[in-house]
Parts: sequence; C-alpha cells; structure tokens
Amino acid sequence: MNKPFIMDHPLIQHKISLLRDKNTGSKEFRELISEVAMLMCFEATRNLPLKEVEIETPICVAKTKILSGRKLAFVPILRAGLGMVDGVLKMVPAAKVGHIGLYRDPETKQPVEYYCKLPTDITKRDVIVIDPMLATGGSAVDAINMLKNKGVTSIKFMCIIAAPEGLEALTKAHPDVEIYCASLDEKLNDHAYIVPGLGDAGDRIFGTK
Ligand code: PRP
Ligand code: URA
Repeated sequence: MNKPFIMDHPLIQHKISLLRDKNTGSKEFRELISEVAMLMCFEATRNLPLKEVEIETPICVAKTKILSGRKLAFVPILRAGLGMVDGVLKMVPAAKVGHIGLYRDPETKQPVEYYCKLPTDITKRDVIVIDPMLATGGSAVDAINMLKNKGVTSIKFMCIIAAPEGLEALTKAHPDVEIYCASLDEKLNDHAYIVPGLGDAGDRIFGTK
C-alpha cells in the first residue's frame, strides 16, 4: 500500500478533535471543515512547480518566483466534499471546480452516481479530489474512475479522516494517485462508518440529521 501523506500539524489535530465532538453543531462543524481543508491544501500543494520571473519592486528589479505548470481543479464528491471547497479556494482562488455526485447505498454500502459536471478543460489540469471521509473507499475509487474515463491523468485525493480499509482499496485501485489525509483512524464499524471518525460528515455539514 502506498503511504498516504498524513498532515498532522497541531492546528489540524486540534480542529479535528472539535470536529469529532458530537456536541459540535452544524455552523461550527462547517467552519472547521473549511479551515482544515484550507490548511491541508497548503500542504498538498507544497510541490507545485515554480518558474523564475523578473518583477520591478519599488526599489529595484528582482528575480522572483511564480507558479508555473498546469492549472488546478478541485473536484468535491457531493455532498460532504462541498464543505471543503471554500477552504481550498482560499488557497488557490483561480482553480476551477468540478462536481461529482455519489451517495453510498445504506444497504450495499456501494456508491451510486447521480451527478457529474466538470470544467471543459479538466484533462489539462492537475485535479485534487476532495471529500472529508474515506471509509470503504468505494466513493473515492468510483470518482477517480469517472475522472480517468474522461481523460484526466493527474489526480490527487485529499480527505480529512481515512480508514485503513479505504486507504487500501484506493491505493489498490489507483496506485498512481497520491493520498493526503489528516487522520488515519482505527477501523470501520459494521455499518461501514469510520471508528472513531466524526459520524456522517454530510449530515453534520448540512444539518440533515
Ligand atoms: C460519505 C462521504 C464519502 C463517502 C465515504 O458520503 O462524504 O463520499 O461517504 O464512504 P466510502 O469510502 O465507504 O464510499 P455519503 O455517501 O454519506 O453521501 P453524502 O455526502 O451525500 O452524505
Ligand atoms: N461517510 C461518513 O460521512 N462518515 C463515515 O464514517 C463513513 C462514511
């Protein structure tokens, strides 16, 4: 199994503890998901290529660096991935955003596709798929299959909480995809929820339970 990048910065760990707390309400939960996504994005983009340019400061002409290489697109997996979008866009405001709608059938635990809308130039972009939860891995594997079927070649996956089962499934299906997560939890329970996890991320973000 490819090793995931685990982003265990103290600020991220602190915010995840608040996310895990069942007494954290939807407003605070949403804010925390967005903040953690922003901090993680900072790390996940650490290796973006740079090029040297000359810029005239008020003092002199300076050789300095700007981003080069391919542009970025973020693709949240609906619904819960939506909670991470404004956080990552604070870091990369010029990125485009595609949407993939998948929900997990409660009986089979298999993802069901219901929506896909991607930027027209998605194949020319580096894509970061975002979803707070990687549980069985089914949703992430399917979302990345959909992107690859459309011709996307450069894909990373960023989640907040991952289960070992999901990491294994995702690295097996897509060994070329780098995985960034903030916490590697213990296991899945009988309902395929992450333990200790934070419950149902979509319901907690949108207050639907
Ligand atoms: C959650 C989560 C992931 C998926 C993870 O979405 O946001 O997309 O489950 O589970 P998996 O790794 O076992 O596929 P859910 O299906 O609950 O839909 P929602 O975001 O609309 O609530
Ligand atoms: N989806 C969630 O939102 N939480 C889990 O623990 C598993 C899947």
